Amino acid sequence: MGGRAHELMEAVRAELWRTHPNSASAHAHAIKRRVIGSTRSRFWPVPLYVERAEGAYLYDVDGFRYIDCNMGHGPLILGHRPPAVVAALAEQIRGGNHYGPPSSKECALAELIVAGVPGAEMLAFTNSGGESTMAAVRLARAATGRETVGKCEGGLHGNYEPLLFNVFSIAGETDRPELVADCAGLPDGVANDVVVLPFNDDAAFDLVREHGSELACVVVEPLQGSAGTFPASTSFLQGLRAVCDEVGALLVFDEVITGFRLAPGSAALTLDVRPDLVTMGKAIGGGMPVGAVIGRREHVMPTDSPPGGGFHEQVFVGGTFSGNPMTSAAGYAQLAQLVENPALYQELSAIGERMRRGLREALSELGIPGFVTGVGSIWGGPYFMDREPASMRDLLDSNQVAGKLLSTCLLEHGVLMTAPAHLNFLSTAHTEEDVDQVVEAHRDVMKMLQSEGCL
Ligand SMILES: Cc1ncc(COP(=O)(O)O)c(C=O)c1O
Repeated sequence: MGGRAHELMEAVRAELWRTHPNSASAHAHAIKRRVIGSTRSRFWPVPLYVERAEGAYLYDVDGFRYIDCNMGHGPLILGHRPPAVVAALAEQIRGGNHYGPPSSKECALAELIVAGVPGAEMLAFTNSGGESTMAAVRLARAATGRETVGKCEGGLHGNYEPLLFNVFSIAGETDRPELVADCAGLPDGVANDVVVLPFNDDAAFDLVREHGSELACVVVEPLQGSAGTFPASTSFLQGLRAVCDEVGALLVFDEVITGFRLAPGSAALTLDVRPDLVTMGKAIGGGMPVGAVIGRREHVMPTDSPPGGGFHEQVFVGGTFSGNPMTSAAGYAQLAQLVENPALYQELSAIGERMRRGLREALSELGIPGFVTGVGSIWGGPYFMDREPASMRDLLDSNQVAGKLLSTCLLEHGVLMTAPAHLNFLSTAHTEEDVDQVVEAHRDVMKMLQSEGCL
């Protein structure tokens, strides 16, 4: 970190802790007791502790309000505490918060989700996005009798071991990435079953062909989220579809972010490409923990419990809380609202576009080289760099220190986003005024960083 940027970061952090004493003492307590292991706190510029949330806003334990640009890492498309979801949860809790046997609520949610995925017939619920990509890989392995998994550089798919390579790190040439484990504790053998493909690059097709006879599936995000919010090009997805067919591997769309976020269902609704399996999470649970793997009956059916034994033929997916009634009630309430009012997606896109336009204008007015990525209600950046980024690899050339400083300073302006701001979300609860305030806050902070010589 550069000298002045480092000083400034320390000063802003110290000031945030001074002005947020309740968060500071909660954090100090957590650090001292070391009771919290793996959480998402590392994504935040300063982990302020939240007390409550409403609409587009979060309120911290010191009484400060933030315009939330993260929305629970994406699921909260209708904002915090949307009345329909709150009512559905209240009604469900009166009938019991968890059962064990199935309920009709999970079937109702499943029907809404399956109807939103072209060509799909069936789904299996899990409890997270990561579990759903794990399930998809297992189903693909069972269907093909092969073990190798193809994934793209920069693709984030949750915590399943073969998918924890080249998520944040790069190695090798652009068209032939080398494997990098982005997690300690992976068994050595896992790497033997993974092929990392370049994203949005036709060189991926030759790599798929090279590994064709061992390849069970290729997992790809139609929009790479955590990598920097980069859509996969239609021609790249079409090429993957063709080459997977050629080698007999399944194509899996990881739609944990895009599912019901950009359209009332799968991103495949708006693309001329049909994957074999789709994974979803986030939005389909209405703010409750959830995941699902969705596809044609022949691919998903093996998850079904066999009537009289035969477990060796079953693909084990799910667990104690899969398809639980609280998630099903909340998810149904949220998705029903989205499916019944598809115009909401136009509104979401309009405020997303307003955000991207406003941020780009602020960069250009201040003469700061930088780029903003994203589509619909999702955006990434600003990334401070001279050439337009198209991948996570490109973003390594951006001024990441300034990116982190920006997110940290934005807290003082009542704007909450991750640091650096690779993946941000809006909801139907955000107004144009909220968006304009976020843009104005960026303008003020970027101006200050410029005057401090950090940009
Ligand atoms: C595209 C994608 N897939 C999978 C996951 C993992 O989902 P979860 O955190 O629910 O396990 C994420 C998480 O952000 C994601 O962005």
